[in-house]
Amino acid sequence: MVTEKTQPEVNIGLVGHVDHGKTTLVQALSGSWTDQHSEEMKRGISIRLGYADATLRKCPECDEPEAFTVEERCPEHDVETEVLRTVSFVDAPGHETLMATMLSGASIMDGAVLVVSATEDVPQAQTEEHLMALDIIGIENIVVAQNKIDLVGSERARENYAQIQEFVEGTVAEGAPIVPISAGQGINVDVLIGALEEEIPTPDRDETLPPRMYVARSFDINRPGTTADELLGGVLGGSLSQGTLEAGDELELRPGREVEEGGQTEHRPIETSVRSLQAGGRSVEKVSPGGLLGVGTGLDPSLTKGDALAGQVAGEPGSLPPTREAFEMGVELLDRVVGEGEVEEISTGEPLMLTVGTATTVGAVTSAREGECEVSLKRPVCAESGAKIAINRRMGARWRLIGVGTLR
Ligand code: GTP
Repeated sequence: MVTEKTQPEVNIGLVGHVDHGKTTLVQALSGSWTDQHSEEMKRGISIRLGYADATLRKCPECDEPEAFTVEERCPEHDVETEVLRTVSFVDAPGHETLMATMLSGASIMDGAVLVVSATEDVPQAQTEEHLMALDIIGIENIVVAQNKIDLVGSERARENYAQIQEFVEGTVAEGAPIVPISAGQGINVDVLIGALEEEIPTPDRDETLPPRMYVARSFDINRPGTTADELLGGVLGGSLSQGTLEAGDELELRPGREVEEGGQTEHRPIETSVRSLQAGGRSVEKVSPGGLLGVGTGLDPSLTKGDALAGQVAGEPGSLPPTREAFEMGVELLDRVVGEGEVEEISTGEPLMLTVGTATTVGAVTSAREGECEVSLKRPVCAESGAKIAINRRMGARWRLIGVGTLR
């Protein structure tokens, strides 16, 4: 039976420097969670979204923090544990060139775990960059996991802990709990679960509004060689920020599909309907805002293949924000870029990489004044005024985060 609790209700991002243990931590937290209703669709979604769902539980007999667990039975008291809630962990890639993916993931995160390895000095480059990104996107509910404590002695662990404390001072993570753990050995994972429960509450969301889904991934789940009559429609992966979705609902996707007519290209919204829904690794009838979900649609799978529709917004036809080919934004620049020094003002003509919601697009600055600029986009975005925009500038071979914009 599908209970209310099995739909993930909150998205928690895992961020931090490469190899500090994000993936291992997700495994530790979702380890005992096995999916008995596994289907092709679910598998595809978890692998490609880089996420795992975990049901956080509590033993009614144990004291805290030992009571916190992901096991269904408490081995000590041999009793069934109580479900607290199901969480989707979004594993953001730590590699430096994948910052854009991290940022588009950040737009659907309700909170984040910053994973910092105790074996290296603090901060490493992406530790700092990811924390800045959380700050800019406005993710304030943060837990710091000081990982790999099994590899260091107690003196080094304390020294490293103090470095973390000093590093987060004055940032969005100031005051966040720092939990020493070993994701590899499963040490203190109970304390970490307790911290997640405390620091990253499930946000209030309005289910009565028209549904709005930020599409983070899209794919074709059919195996090569599937015959036409067995072909399943294209799948969208992402999160609902408001409203609910049920099988049979009509969906509009914006900006939609690029069409060329008489030498002109434009984007036209796509209309389809919801065929099936997946959440918490199961087929469900209805989904609410919260964790990551998969939406089977009536779309031709060639349209959804290879994330072709990532960055789009889906919702009730006629209810979506406008599609914008150009926009004006208020700009707040960072003081400096990690490893690059001071950030210079944005100038007219320069290209910027912009992340708006789950969409990433390149824009040319058509006019720039202090604190604001206008950009003309290569690929349009569907976004509301007031939307937050991560602004990246090309530096050497990479796009680097330089500030945050607010859509006017
Ligand atoms: P990217 O996804 O590439 O950014 O890396 P990641 O942060 O997800 O790191 P990952 O979980 O892949 O861990 C990197 C290496 O550290 C792996 O070899 C893990 O086995 C190891 N590791 C992770 N956590 C621990 C730990 O707590 N203790 C020990 N001893 N090794 C760990």
